[in-house]
Amino acid sequence: MLFFGGDYNPEQWPEEVWTEDVALMRQAGVNIATVGVFAWSDLEPEPGRYEFDWLDRVLDLLHEGGIKVALATPTASPPPWFTLAHPEALPVTADGIRLSHGSRDTYCVSSPAYRAAARAVAGRLAERYAHHPALAMWHVHNEYGTDCRCDVTAAAFRLWLQKKHGDLGTLNEAWTTSFWSQRYSEWAQIAPPRATQYMPNPAHVLDFRRFLSDELLDGFIEQRDLLRAANPAVPVTTNFVQGGWVSVDHARWAEEVDVVAVDHYPDDAGPGAEEQTAFAADLARGWGGGSWLLMETGPNLIYTRGRMHAKEPGRLTRHSLGYVARGSSGAMYFQWRQPRGGAELFHSALVPHAGPDTPVFREAVALGRTLRTLSPKAADAPPPTASVAVTWDAPSWWALQGPGLPAADIDYLAAVRQAHRALYRAKLQADFVFPGVSTALGDYRMIVVPQLYLVSDEAAAAFRDYVAAGGTLVVTYLSGIAEPDTRIRLGGYPGAFREILGVRVVEWHPQAPGTVITLDDGLAGAAASAGLAASSGSAASSGSAASAGLAASSGSAASSGSAASAGLIAERWIERVETAGAATISRYVDGPMAGAPAITRNRYGAGSAWYVSAGLTDDSLQALLRQVAAEAGAEPVLPGLPSEVEAVRRGDLLFLFNHGDQPAAVDRVTLPPGGVRIRSADGVEGPPVGRG
Ligand code: GLA
Repeated sequence: MLFFGGDYNPEQWPEEVWTEDVALMRQAGVNIATVGVFAWSDLEPEPGRYEFDWLDRVLDLLHEGGIKVALATPTASPPPWFTLAHPEALPVTADGIRLSHGSRDTYCVSSPAYRAAARAVAGRLAERYAHHPALAMWHVHNEYGTDCRCDVTAAAFRLWLQKKHGDLGTLNEAWTTSFWSQRYSEWAQIAPPRATQYMPNPAHVLDFRRFLSDELLDGFIEQRDLLRAANPAVPVTTNFVQGGWVSVDHARWAEEVDVVAVDHYPDDAGPGAEEQTAFAADLARGWGGGSWLLMETGPNLIYTRGRMHAKEPGRLTRHSLGYVARGSSGAMYFQWRQPRGGAELFHSALVPHAGPDTPVFREAVALGRTLRTLSPKAADAPPPTASVAVTWDAPSWWALQGPGLPAADIDYLAAVRQAHRALYRAKLQADFVFPGVSTALGDYRMIVVPQLYLVSDEAAAAFRDYVAAGGTLVVTYLSGIAEPDTRIRLGGYPGAFREILGVRVVEWHPQAPGTVITLDDGLAGAAASAGLAASSGSAASSGSAASAGLAASSGSAASSGSAASAGLIAERWIERVETAGAATISRYVDGPMAGAPAITRNRYGAGSAWYVSAGLTDDSLQALLRQVAAEAGAEPVLPGLPSEVEAVRRGDLLFLFNHGDQPAAVDRVTLPPGGVRIRSADGVEGPPVGRG
């Protein structure tokens, strides 16, 4: 069964509304409700006094309606009585400010009082509901990720550091504490990174984020084990949230949850929303080893910077089916009913303030029907298969948010998204691999490595083996630079990848925003004759098909002649690259590196390793990856797809999405503007989608 439903907060409503809720859920085909995420103050209004009657009635009502429950432990929002009784459990910021209650996430996960209270309420829920017939899964907490820098946290951090580094000498070495006289002579001298005079130590900051990930995970595991003990048959999960502030290494956490559940809210109302949806879904599928669940998204809302964007007709459906196509075992939303008050009072819902007689609810009803039809085939269908992969590494992201970097606008997430977007636009289905957690790199035709700043010796060896065995690796600048503790790999960048790439980078030249550097496009003629030119040309260049081409075979770009006028475009980042065995495929045409290698390829064993030293624009990176993928033998999902059509295969289902505003003809099917079609081996499923 594909799940369809979302967060349900009956504690915010009088009981007569509950009956209407269940009736409307049935009308929409909702089959799961996430209950109790923020209900701690209603479940335990005073210390040790629990009120479960209302929750009994809610769960029974849902059960009678045939609706399953993802029952939450409410520990992401301790009640005011708790924080007044245990002010020491309130989080402290890096500036030393102890926060107050009045919002959510007002806890320190290292606080013994908080942990005890969390175990108590989770334990009582487990006792009472572990065998409730409506219970489908446990949803622990909500979006783990907040931090605290108090003294209790400091003590826990020190224990973690002792376990990791063993002795202070090793820590001092790993953190390079002789820089600025930071050498520690007692463990007690170490605190979480706190407001200080000037830049902090990057290794200290990074270890603290790793510690936080593990500390939050301990909090999760403690609850998970209680819930499992009460009924081992019920899966336990927590909803992963992504964001630059989140100190959770989801690739590691994934090993501890029964189901990888992910919240995802695109932040771009343009075509970026669809690209981000694909990115988040592919990443979640990677964490889940093939399976995952979309736990929350906004039904009728894209939060853009500073503005709520209501989705266009059909977009809720396209996004929801997009997640399902990419392996989600359902589509769930935040939230069922829009609240009358509270901090998120205008956050969208399946039942908005205006009620069910609305486009969003009508679209939900139609979507519920589509998901029901799809359920028997999609629920057990294997995930999409991909012949290319992209690397993801949370610690590299954190390290690239650290102090002392060569440019203020380095943005790991943007770099990984850009690589994924290039593959998405080239219609190549991508997976993610996690070299910081597992050295298993799969048998992908091509792996793209964007800004993988931290690389262990083991991961470096895995990449070497992968290429030697015939794989194609595309490594971008800022990869391989440091060991996992941020100590720089000496001898030239990109350290860990130097040997496979056959290059040595001796200087970085970050460029001011707006500076445009041109690269020649190598043997454009060879690319064109091999039919490898990209269909969308670089906006900043000539616009001809050849402009997006790139050398298909090795050789000096100096031979490219006129192709130099129609090259690739770089912004923000260029480097001084020396080749040491690699062939130069593209050279810088202008700027401080004019004439020097920009993109190289090295034959290594049976494979190829490409180095991209420049911050290519979207179009240029797409042109490059399209060509390298073709050379590596990676095939698009379907040949000849129009640019606004997305195709995903999940098992023997082919999902076709028309994200454009014109009809599109694909694979014997005409897609209406904004429409979705799902083809299975035995025919086309589901009606055209749209609101109203
Ligand atoms: C997250 C949270 C929800 C809600 C939404 C708002 O997903 O889990 O409680 O705050 O964000 O977008």
